[in-house]
Parts: sequence; structure tokens; C-alpha cells
Amino acid sequence: MDKKQTNKSRRGFLKNSAMMGSGLIIVPRHVLGGKGYTAPSDRLHLAAIGAGGKGNSDIRNAYNDGVNKVVALCDVDMNQAKDSIKKFKKAKVYKDFRVMLEEMRKDIDAVTISTPDHIHGVAAMTAMELGMHVYVQKPLTHNIYEARQLTEAARKHKVVTQMGNQGASNPGQTLMMEWMQKGLIGTVHTVEVWTNRPVWPQGIPVPKGQPLPDHLSKKDWDLFVGPAEYVDYDPLYHPFKWRGWWNFGTGALGDMGCHLIDPPFRVLQLGYPTEVECSVGQIFKRDWTPEHIPEGCPPSSKVQIKFPKTAINDSEIMLNWYDGGMRPFHPDVIPVEDYLGEPGNNNGVLMIGDKGIIACGTYGRDPKLYRKGEETLTMSEEYFDSFAHTKLPEFGHQIAWTEACKAGFDSKEHKALTSSFDYAGPLNETVLMGNLAIRSYALKKEKLDKQGRKRSDFHGRKKLLWDGENMKVTNFEDANQFVGRTYRDGWKLI
Ligand SMILES: NC(=O)c1ccc[n+]([C@@H]2O[C@H](COP(=O)([O-])OP(=O)(O)OC[C@H]3O[C@@H](n4cnc5c(N)ncnc54)[C@H](O)[C@@H]3O)[C@@H](O)[C@H]2O)c1
Repeated sequence: MDKKQTNKSRRGFLKNSAMMGSGLIIVPRHVLGGKGYTAPSDRLHLAAIGAGGKGNSDIRNAYNDGVNKVVALCDVDMNQAKDSIKKFKKAKVYKDFRVMLEEMRKDIDAVTISTPDHIHGVAAMTAMELGMHVYVQKPLTHNIYEARQLTEAARKHKVVTQMGNQGASNPGQTLMMEWMQKGLIGTVHTVEVWTNRPVWPQGIPVPKGQPLPDHLSKKDWDLFVGPAEYVDYDPLYHPFKWRGWWNFGTGALGDMGCHLIDPPFRVLQLGYPTEVECSVGQIFKRDWTPEHIPEGCPPSSKVQIKFPKTAINDSEIMLNWYDGGMRPFHPDVIPVEDYLGEPGNNNGVLMIGDKGIIACGTYGRDPKLYRKGEETLTMSEEYFDSFAHTKLPEFGHQIAWTEACKAGFDSKEHKALTSSFDYAGPLNETVLMGNLAIRSYALKKEKLDKQGRKRSDFHGRKKLLWDGENMKVTNFEDANQFVGRTYRDGWKLI
């Protein structure tokens, strides 16, 4: 049996054992292995790619207090990963996920991927091609093309997937769906979504590069850069601040869009958008000469994304996105003393219909229904508590995924996942449409005016028409360069 076969057999065994546990063949646990015995079907063998930062809590949550087993950890920076390494002492530690997945293909069932955004696509594809289930942080990918490829690969390889937008598993989202289905806000025409991000340096000059800190080697940094274009190390990239640079991150929209656009995408059953337009904030260090930094995400942006009518909503919808501290104005139907979205107004969602407004904060928290002259509806504690796993960390989002991995592809548990790639892929593509418009907005050509003076022509500052099925801007060819990316030598998506 070849390695791939052997590896897949372990997952086949997990699935058969899960069927035994679900009542098809009942074998009491003590008969299988005696007191204290944990059936292999109960333990998913997990690995983490990106074990510091968010990866620390992702792998802990998936570990589920020992219900599952962490067999390997991968991180390019041992300082960042130190807490995970301390917690999972028996796990093998790697720096290159390609080496880890290859060497341990027989022993890994499922992988959490919590690296910077530019690594998600390549790491998830490598794992899925080896038949491993994947939990991938949001945004699912760095660009639209990668999202489509991962969505299709998950079906092809029959693996169980979940994106890390944990608010998808918040019962608040189910409640908002019920409100919409009952027609309580009528037909929705406008959605407002906003965030206080970026809360890291953004709109600043490109870092010049600094000497590597003692604990990082040149090879470690090369692995960090991975498929992206090579740039020298700088603390303005790693850790955390990579978010503000297109080479690695996806800006404010990429950071929060998959959390905040998730409720309207789900509640209004949205699909691919048809149009996108944006405007972005400027920075002036000299009079009349705005900074132009196409390598970096802008300090603020406003994006408008248009959607066609949907099965549940008989009107086109305009979704307005604001970041960098901007937020929509306070609608009349929401009492003036009430906050917008969440306390502090930092992040939020308003779905505005002809009969009322559904509002919520980040992760689908604090859902509210406002109608003129009627009492505001909120989520009761009883409603929240009536959902089985949602009191677990992050609404049980990672644990639901591990249970679905054990139950297998297409199982009831798999179908019940709130952000498997069939849903998360199109959501992610939609979020990244906004970034396509933002990057197009920065495109610049120099041309001479009638007096022979140099002038800038920002030819991408226009409404972009989108063919979602074919992933193509139809009225401005130059924007299509941002649908995908080129990969550095030695790295590939497929
Ligand atoms: N769902 C949420 O609430 C949430 C919250 C925070 C971050 N995130 C997401 O998690 C991801 C990580 O964000 P973060 O804030 O933890 O960033 P971070 O920079 O703090 O941590 C990233 C970790 O990945 C490691 N890493 C970098 N390149 C790697 C590679 N090639 N292979 C293995 N490890 C690598 C880093 O050393 C670091 O330990 C992002 O996609 C982010 O959007 C999600």
C-alpha cells in the first residue's frame, strides 16, 4: 500500500468507527479496550500550521481538552509558537509545513491553518491533496482564484472543511435568519457594514528591511515569505503587521470582512456580486501631493458591492463597507441612545429593509430587530442556551469541525457545519472583490498634459462589472491581474 493509501486508510478507519459509535454496530467502549481506553475513532490526529497568534487558540480548541490528539506543530518562529510547543510536548515540531505534511502523512488526519493570509491557500491545498481535513482561518485565501480552487478541491478530495469565521456558529445568526424568513424587516435594499480596522500601521511607506532578530534565521524568514514575492524581514511585517501589505495580507476588509459580511451573506442568501466600486483615504506628507503606495493597503476605504435579487429577497442589494474609523449614519428607526452594531460602535452590520432593520455586532453578537413604533427584539438567553455546543470556546466552531471530521465527508455533522468551503468559498470571494476594487483604484499611469506637464491617470477609479462564475472583471482588463497572484519559485497552489 502506498503512503497516500495508508494515510487515507486511517481516515477510513475513523469513519467506520464513527458509524459503529452512531449505532450501526454497538460495541461498548470497555469491550474495545478496557477502563480509560480511548477508541481511535474518538481521537482525531491534529497538526497545526501556524502555532502562534490565533493558531495557539485554534489548535487548543480543536484539541478539545484531550478528546483529540495533537501530533505535530509547524511554525517558522519558535518564539511565537512557544506556548503551543509547551502545551503539546509530545507533538513533533516543524518549520516547513511541506516537510511536516509529507513526513507525517500517515499520522495526520486534520490540520488547522492559522498563518498570515498569503500562506492559507498553498498550505490548505497541500493538506487536502493528501486527503487531510482542514480548518483554515479567515480570510480563507489571499485572493479570489485561490478561494475557488480550495472550494473545488474540498469536494474533489472529499475532505471536511471549515473557515475560521467563528461567528458563523453563533446562534445569533440563526435568529437573524428566522427574523428574515418571517418577513419581519420586509425586503432589504441596503446593507451597511463597518469596522474600526486597521488597528495596525497601514497606509505607511514600504518598510526598508531590518536585520533579522537573533531567533530567526534567513531560512525561517524565507519560509515566512513562502509563495509571496521576496522582501527583506522587517518588524513592520512580522508578527501581526503583515496585514497591511498586499504581499502578505488583505487589509482591513480581508481581516474583518469574513466576520462582518458573513451575517448578511447568510441571512440574505447572497451569491456572487455583479458590481463593485470603491474610494480610499489619502495621506499627504507634502502639500497637494498624496502618497501613492500600491504595495500597501490604504488607511481607510469605502466599498460598495451590488448583489442581484436572491431566493429570499426580491430586490437588488447594495452593500456598503466602511473601514478606518468611518461608519454609517444613525438610521431614524434605531433609537438615538442605542449604539450601532456593538457598544462603542466600532464594528457592526445593519440590514435595512422596507419594514425594519436587523443589526448586529462582530461574530453575529447582539442581534437586534428594529421596527418603527414596535419594541426592539433581541436574543434571549434561553434562545442562545438552546443550541448544544455554542457555549464552548468560539461558539464550538473548531470542535464542530473536529466532530464532523470524525463523522466523515457528507455526514450529517459535516452538512451542519456553518462555514465549510461550499459556503465560505463564495463568501470569501465576495469579500475579496472589495480588495480587487481597492487595488485597482491605486493603478496609475503617467501621461503628459497639453502643456507637457506630467499628470497621473488613475485609470482604475471606476465601477467594476463582475462575472462571478468566470471570476472576471468585464469592463476593465487591468483589474483582472488582482484575481490571482504569481507564486515564487518553489511554491505553487496546484
Ligand atoms: N477568527 C479570528 O477571530 C481571528 C483572530 C485573529 C487572527 N485570525 C486570522 O489568523 C491568521 C493569523 O493571524 P495572527 O493574528 O495570529 O497573526 P500572527 O502574525 O500573530 O501569527 C501568525 C503565526 O503564523 C506563523 N507563520 C508565519 N508564516 C508561517 C509559515 N509559512 N508556516 C508556519 N507558520 C507560519 C507566525 O510565526 C505566527 O506564529 C490570519 O489569517 C488572521 O486573519 C483570525
